[in-house]
Amino acid sequence: MLSNSPIQNKYVERTPSSRALAEQAGAYFPSAITHDSRHTTPYGIYVERALGSRKWDVDGNEYVDYFGGHGALMLGHRNAEVEGCIQEALAAGTHFGSSHQFEVAWAASVQALMPAAERIRFTASGTEATLLAMRLARAYTGRSRIARFRTHFHGWHDHMAFGVSGHFDGTATPGVLREVAAQVLLLDPDDIDAVARALENDPDIAAVILEPTGGGGGMAPLAPDFVAQLRQITEQHGVLLIMDEVVTGFRVHKGGAQSLLGVTPDLISLAKILSGGLPGGAVAGRADILDHLDFQAAADRSFEKIHHPGTFNANPLSAAAGAKTLEIIASTDATERAAAFGARLRPRLNQVFADRGLAWAAYGEQASFFVFMNAKGQAVDPLNFDPLAIPYQEIKAKPPGLMNRLRLALLIGGVDISGSGGGVISATHDDNDLERTVTAFDQAAAMLMAEEDLPRT
Ligand SMILES: Cc1ncc(COP(=O)(O)O)c(C=O)c1O
Repeated sequence: MLSNSPIQNKYVERTPSSRALAEQAGAYFPSAITHDSRHTTPYGIYVERALGSRKWDVDGNEYVDYFGGHGALMLGHRNAEVEGCIQEALAAGTHFGSSHQFEVAWAASVQALMPAAERIRFTASGTEATLLAMRLARAYTGRSRIARFRTHFHGWHDHMAFGVSGHFDGTATPGVLREVAAQVLLLDPDDIDAVARALENDPDIAAVILEPTGGGGGMAPLAPDFVAQLRQITEQHGVLLIMDEVVTGFRVHKGGAQSLLGVTPDLISLAKILSGGLPGGAVAGRADILDHLDFQAAADRSFEKIHHPGTFNANPLSAAAGAKTLEIIASTDATERAAAFGARLRPRLNQVFADRGLAWAAYGEQASFFVFMNAKGQAVDPLNFDPLAIPYQEIKAKPPGLMNRLRLALLIGGVDISGSGGGVISATHDDNDLERTVTAFDQAAAMLMAEEDLPRT
C-alpha cells in the first residue's frame, strides 16, 4: 500500500485498524463500501463512535465531522434529548404494524415548520420520497414527463439516475431503461428563459423538480430569482413544482428553502434532518394532490388511488427521533448557530488559500461549505470569489484524484469532509472545531502543494 504520495503514506500509517477492516469488507462489498460517496482510495476510515461535532475511528484518531450523517445530523451526534426519545420508543417496541402516537407528533412538527405541508406521507428514504412525489404529480396532472435540472441530485431511482454527474444528454445509465429516461426532460439551471420555452413547448410535463438552493445541496448555486421565476412559469403552465428539500429542509432555514426563498411549492420531498439521524423520508404538500393517496377521496371522486405500502414508513423510532429533532429546531437557535459557524468558517478558509497563494475558494451559504478546486486553473482570488461566475457543470465537477488526496490530507489533520468536497455544519460545531479545521486546511494545502502542481493566485 506504499505509494509515491507522502499524504497517502501518512494516512495509511495512522489507520492500520481501518485498513484491516477494509480488507475484510472487500470480501463482502463491491469496492468494500456500502455507499458510493464513502469511496476513498486506498480505503476510508472506520468509525467507532461519535459525539456532538466529533467522531473517533477504530485507531483512536479524533475528527471534526463535516460529513454529518450525509447531512442528517443538524443537532450533531447523539443529542441527549433525541437519544432519550429514541430509547423511550425502543423500550416500547420497534414496529407495531399499527398507527402510533409518534407519527402524529412527527407530522405535526413538520407542518408547524412548513405550512405548505398540508398533508404528509412518510417513506423510508429520500429516494422513495422523490419517487412518490413524481408519481403523485403524474396521477394529479394526468401528464407523463418530469423535468429536472442537470447536476441536481434526487436519489438513485430510475428517473433520477442520469444527468447528475454525467449523461447530461439524458441518455440512460447502466440498468435504466431508455424508455424511462425518455420521460425525463433535463434542463439547464442557469437559463430560466430556456425553462420557460421548454414548458411552453411540451404540454406533457407533469412536474419540475429541483434542489432549491442549487445542485449538490447548493454546491452549484442558482441565480437569486431563479426559484421565484420558476414558480411563476410552472403555475402559468399548470406544471407542479416539487421542491426537493431532502438536504435543505430544516437546514438552510427552520422552514427549509421554501421559507428562506419565500416560494411555496406544490410538493416537497424530505428526508435526512426530518428523521433525526434515523432512516426516513416524506412527501408533503397540497392536500388536493396528496388526496391521490386517500381511500375516501378516491371513492368520492371516482379515481384510482395510488397504492403506497412500505414496511418502515413512519416507524416509531424514526418518528420519535424526528419529532424531537424538529421540536428542538423550532424552539431553539440551532439553525442560526450552525449558519453563523458557516459564515465564520468560509472566510477563514479563504484566508488560508490566499496566504498559501492557492487559487481555490471556499463558498456556500448557511450551514454548509464547499471547496472550489479550480480544475481548469482559472484566475481565482479566494478573497473575492463569486460561485455564480463559474459555470454550474464546472463548479460541481471535482478532479477525483485531487479530491481524494485533499480528503486524506484533512483526515491526517483530524477533519472529515464529505466525498464531494464540502461539509455540512451542525449546531454543535464550536470555536475549537473552527480553529482545528482552519489549521487542518492550512496543513493540507501545504502538503498538496508540495506534492503536485496546483493553480496559484
Ligand atoms: C437532494 C437530495 N434528494 C434526495 C436524496 C436521496 O435521499 P436518500 O439518500 O435518503 O435516499 C438525497 C441524498 O443525498 C439528496 O441529497
